[in-house]
Formats: sequence, structure tokens, C-alpha cells
Amino acid sequence: MRKIVFASANPGKIREAGEILGPGFEIVSAAEAGVTEVVPETGATLRENSLQKAEYLYRKTGCDCFADDTGLEVDILGGAPGVHTARYAGEGRDFNANMDKLLEEIARVETPNSTRKARFRTCVTLILDGKTHFFDGIMEGSIARSKAGKGGFGYDPVFMPDGCGGLTAAELSEEEKNAISHRGKALRAMAAFLKD
Ligand code: IMP
Repeated sequence: MRKIVFASANPGKIREAGEILGPGFEIVSAAEAGVTEVVPETGATLRENSLQKAEYLYRKTGCDCFADDTGLEVDILGGAPGVHTARYAGEGRDFNANMDKLLEEIARVETPNSTRKARFRTCVTLILDGKTHFFDGIMEGSIARSKAGKGGFGYDPVFMPDGCGGLTAAELSEEEKNAISHRGKALRAMAAFLKD
């Protein structure tokens, strides 16, 4: 069994990563590896942030480890909120306030011919035997006109993944969402590399 530290304190994410990597790997949270402080995230891009988190964890633990960073990119907003996704409406990281701000910003710039196309992007950095590897995953979709659904988290109630008949990600089951999600794709790419 290969131990690998994940720079996350989110039980849902740790469970998802464990399911994707499968029985050959033991996923350990940052706290279980002895890193309880907030890991710095000051990069200008998702890749820089995930690299910063993975390097921090590697320096502290000396273990194989990985970190992820996710952003929502809305075309009509020039790719915003992007790297600022978690704190779009302020440091409180309030999901409802973030979604309200997103709907307001789109309404401000929308024209009859514009689209509401958007995507979630996850960048994963893996440090394995001291070497750094990157894996990306994207979920394409569009921003709904209002919130719908009770599942998921974050911006799921306003994000309609392509190919889901207009349902938001918050109206999908956890399994349906994980099968198409940005994070699922990035983690599966990492899992394929690790199993190679
Ligand atoms: P993190 O890098 O996973 O912390 O994600 C940054 C922010 O993106 C989170 O605070 C959420 O608001 C948002 N986010 C990440 N993944 C998802 C998702 O699968 N659905 C909805 N929002 C997400």
C-alpha cells in the first residue's frame, strides 16, 4: 500500500480521491500527516497555487503528496472569477454571496447575442519521489439564470454541465457529478499515471 498525502481537509474530496486511486493507495489528509496550519495559496494561477500547496506539504512531511486548485472561468467575464473563485464575493468564502455576485456580474455585461458559457478547471500537482507532475481536468458548461438543486457544493446550483439536459450540477447525484467533474478527470489522470 503506497501512502500519499493530499493537501486537503475536506472529507468529501479525500473520499473521492480514495475511490479514484483505489485499494493500492492510502490517502492521508494534511492534518493526519501533521500539517494543521492553513497552507499558503498566493499564486497568480491555479497551477501555481496547486504547486505551492504541494511543495509546502512536501517540505513539511517529506512524503509523496498532491494538491489541487480549482477555478470557475466564465467566458463573458473574461475568464473570471478564475483563481479568485473561492473568494469572489470576499474573504468569507460564502457560496451564496459568490453565486449572487456571479449572476449580477453576468447580468451587467450580457447582451442578446452573448453566451453564458463557462468551465470548471482543476489543476493537480503531484510530487512523487521528489519529482513534480501536473494533471488538469475540465468540465464545460454554462451559467444558469437562477440557482437550482440541493446537492454538491460551491457554485453547483448555478453551473449546468454540458450534456445534462439543463440540470445544474447540484441536481445531479454525487456519482453522476464525479463521473464528469473537472476534479474527477484530473484525479483519474493522476491515478492512471500512478498505476503505470
Ligand atoms: P478549491 O480549489 O477546491 O478550494 O475550489 C475553489 C472554489 O471553487 C471553491 O471554494 C468552490 O467555490 C469552487 N468549486 C470547486 N469545485 C467545485 C465544484 O465541483 N462545484 C462547484 N464549485 C466548486
